[in-house]
Amino acid sequence: MYTEKVLEHFRNPRNVGRIEDADGVGKVGNPLCGDVMVMYLRIRDDRIEDAKFETFGCGAAIATSSMATELIKGKTVEEALRVTNRVVAEALGGLPPHKMHCSVLAEEAIRAAIEDYRAKRQRT
Ligand code: FES
Repeated sequence: MYTEKVLEHFRNPRNVGRIEDADGVGKVGNPLCGDVMVMYLRIRDDRIEDAKFETFGCGAAIATSSMATELIKGKTVEEALRVTNRVVAEALGGLPPHKMHCSVLAEEAIRAAIEDYRAKRQRT
């Protein structure tokens, strides 16, 4: 039911961990299953230099977090906001329909981390 790519990212997730002094941190949860994802971004000159995540959740949530961090690294903040859950799922070769909701966490975590980054910048 999962593509090889999903299984590979689940078994060897990229960019797991946290970034100390991250420029943006986004924490989101799925109220239906209780899974939680935290995204940490290091941003320089409006470009995402580094992205890491901690996901306490299902295999699809872990695989989509891993792929999402890979996709947004090196992108500008505006470009990263265009990385939707569908873009992440497609990059993984698709997800079973009943697991598509898991990919929404990654999109929301990216948005939340960027909002945090923008809010922090406004305060300085
Ligand atoms: Fe909760 Fe997948 S079942 S995110």
